[in-house]
Amino acid sequence: MERRDFMTLGAVAVAGSVLNAGESTQNNLKPTHAEAYELKPLNFNPKSLKGLSEKIIMSHYNNNYGGAVKRGKIIEEKIAQLQSNANPFELGALKREQMAAINSMILHEYYFDNLGASGKVSDTLTKALTASFGSIEKWEDEFRKTALSLGGGSGWVFLVYNDRLKRVENVWAWDHMHGLWDSKILLALDMYEHSYQMDFGANAKEYLNAFFANINWDVVNKRFEK
Ligand SMILES: [Fe+2]
Repeated sequence: MERRDFMTLGAVAVAGSVLNAGESTQNNLKPTHAEAYELKPLNFNPKSLKGLSEKIIMSHYNNNYGGAVKRGKIIEEKIAQLQSNANPFELGALKREQMAAINSMILHEYYFDNLGASGKVSDTLTKALTASFGSIEKWEDEFRKTALSLGGGSGWVFLVYNDRLKRVENVWAWDHMHGLWDSKILLALDMYEHSYQMDFGANAKEYLNAFFANINWDVVNKRFEK
């Protein structure tokens, strides 16, 4: 269990019992949206990845991604139940944990969707990477070093297109709460140890080699074209 999980359980305990989805629309409670908390299926065969075992992919999918989806739903129900005379800190604690859970859900979906070892970097993305970094090799070197800076810690690395900067950029994120606003995620890399510890121990460098061997560039290219 992550530190975040303990924090979530603590925050959730503040607000009383859980209603089933939909029930919270009664008695002037804020409506909930259970349909948002459906697990998105993997778009690749978990046995097919190079260097990443089916065991770690399914554990990551069910426990970490699945856990975030469940937490997001529970926290939304807790917020819906919060009475109007509740203290702001009670709502604030839940809102903080809600953001962590929903961001974790969304980021894991980006991560799993950009796995599956397919295609290669498109010409248009190559041009954008070259314009921002000098070459694809220099982009990859910076992306890997940013990832290694999180080795043994918790966080994400993203290749994004940022609307304000009008260019692609690598983004360091210490946890599910960091991001560069006005960005579209093109490539997401999970650097939490649960992503690689089972297969590689503390060897984040080997995990990075496996990640790069399994990137679904067709998905990344489509994200960029959008
Ligand atoms: Fe993860």
